[in-house]
Amino acid sequence: MEETHNIMPRHIAIIMDGNGRWAQQRGLERVYGHQAGTEAVRRAVEACAKANVQYLTLYAFSTENWNRPKSEVDALMHLLVKALHDEVPKLMKNQVRLNAIGAMEDLPQACQDEFRSAIAETSRNTGLTLTIALSYSGRNEWVRAAKKVFDDVACHKVTKDDICETYLNSKMDTAQMPDPDILIRTGGECRISNFLLWQLAYTELFFLPVMWPDFKGDHLREVISQFQSRERRFGKTSEQVTPR
Ligand code: IPE
Ligand code: IPE
Ligand code: MG
Repeated sequence: MEETHNIMPRHIAIIMDGNGRWAQQRGLERVYGHQAGTEAVRRAVEACAKANVQYLTLYAFSTENWNRPKSEVDALMHLLVKALHDEVPKLMKNQVRLNAIGAMEDLPQACQDEFRSAIAETSRNTGLTLTIALSYSGRNEWVRAAKKVFDDVACHKVTKDDICETYLNSKMDTAQMPDPDILIRTGGECRISNFLLWQLAYTELFFLPVMWPDFKGDHLREVISQFQSRERRFGKTSEQVTPR
């Protein structure tokens, strides 16, 4: 019999892909897919909170997504502000703490302001930490991290000998979080698209054919159950990680 490890994931990351195709399959403009996607976010947050997952990180907008048509980018920014504004009371009720990663300074001012106030308002909540990756990419995070290292060197806070994985991790946007145990990408593509390049080193990957607006709590529960039947070896042998 296959051995199961009923270990709950602490951190789930999701590449929410497929909004545009979901809308186009219905003869609608892509923006309707993004709108429907906000409902799926709500379902994912609820399912994670119920399953006692501590961290949920959602890829909402990549640095490369700025290259989309201006009308789509504007619609997405508008949707973000509205969704945030509408969701804060629910986040408070469910004890969800909001967080954001990425080059936030690239976002329109209204969006930055809405985020800043929602993050401050939810900062004392003690449940799920919900992180939204916005104007985020793994390589851009690396560039920003390298600049922080440069600053530390320039003011003699560190020397070459201090540079280690723990130190570099402290310069990442995700410094306060454990690495993701699970990465889910919806929409059927099997790629990372510049998401959490440092943090995904040993993450279990799940690529689902379902378009993001159709994502339900059951999809999340099914992934968690498959995760629990996988053996994570972190480079060791099977015998080392499950002594018989
Ligand atoms: C993901 O859905 C949302 C964002 C990238 C903002 P897409 O908009 O990429 O949808 P598809 O992949 O074109 O269907
Ligand atoms: C990845 O989706 C980014 C987000 C979901 C925010 P994309 O649709 O931008 O990725 P590619 O272009 O298919 O790789
Ligand atoms: Mg896409």
